[in-house]
Amino acid sequence: MTTSYHNPVLLRETVEHMVVDKGGVYVDATYGGGGHTQFLLDTLNEKGTVVAFDQDEDAIKNKIDDPRLILLRSNFRYIGRFVKYLKINEVDGVMADLGVSSFQLDEDSKGFSFSAESALDMRMNTSATYTAADVVNNEHEADLVGIFSAYGEVRNAKSLARAIVKARSQRPITSIQEFLLCVEPLIMGNRSRYLAQVFQAIRIKVNDEIGALKSLLTASAQILKVGGRLSVLTYHSLEDRIVKHFVKRGVFDPKSQFASDAFGEVPRWCLEPVNRKPILPSKEEIQNNSRARSAKLRVAEKTRSYE
Ligand SMILES: C[S@@+](CC[C@H](N)C(=O)[O-])C[C@H]1O[C@@H](n2cnc3c(N)ncnc32)[C@H](O)[C@@H]1O
Repeated sequence: MTTSYHNPVLLRETVEHMVVDKGGVYVDATYGGGGHTQFLLDTLNEKGTVVAFDQDEDAIKNKIDDPRLILLRSNFRYIGRFVKYLKINEVDGVMADLGVSSFQLDEDSKGFSFSAESALDMRMNTSATYTAADVVNNEHEADLVGIFSAYGEVRNAKSLARAIVKARSQRPITSIQEFLLCVEPLIMGNRSRYLAQVFQAIRIKVNDEIGALKSLLTASAQILKVGGRLSVLTYHSLEDRIVKHFVKRGVFDPKSQFASDAFGEVPRWCLEPVNRKPILPSKEEIQNNSRARSAKLRVAEKTRSYE
């Protein structure tokens, strides 16, 4: 495990709440620096198996050398397909630690951070073609408003979208520095907080994070065995709301604009939350790792299947 790559959040809690059988099969949907995967491998016995995913090729380069680990470079939205391909009928647990790693945030060339001097990129998967520059230069003004308000809870989303459309009509906005020139005059409140919200919104759009999360949740509920567990760490309220509703009733928030049940299907499973409230990091963990500040862990158990 490389803590310089990423310092894992709620490490013990995420893994220990998920593991129901030490010789079972588990999925870590978000390998990153392998912190959770390593702890999971340490928790399992020699019969245990971990199938891990990451769509970023840099994460895959740090594969832990352990015969019990299968590491795949793929979007986690395809876990159902991969599990079938690996001839695994059902799994004992699925965990996900959503968002980006510290490595991704700190790596200037990836363009996730507003302090980077690089192109507007923000792709976790560099084989994908849709970038932050495409969002900023090509999305309609009304769609930009939706992206900034839904994904970033940016208070002045309308003015921001208007300013972007005006600036790009002069010339395309291709670098983070050019983008900041356009955004700076609109900053409301704390600069870092505001920019973090704007960048988060664009990142979620570029990587279709909400679509991928919904696919992951639905597929996980399908591949979990009865008694198996889903353990999900989120870092912002939009993600947490989706996970909260899913672990309670197996559906997504019916009131939001993303309304749907499990992709229009009646869920063929029952999930029950393991804890009534989300598990939060201790004050001490937050002091040692600022990324833990907004973390929430929700765990569900599959209690029934109607297949
Ligand atoms: C917060 S980091 C995980 C850190 C990891 N738990 C650790 O201890 O090092 C999230 C990772 O998930 C990956 N990721 C995010 N969304 C993904 C998706 N839809 N499919 C596959 N990987 C994804 C990112 O590339 C990143 O490496």
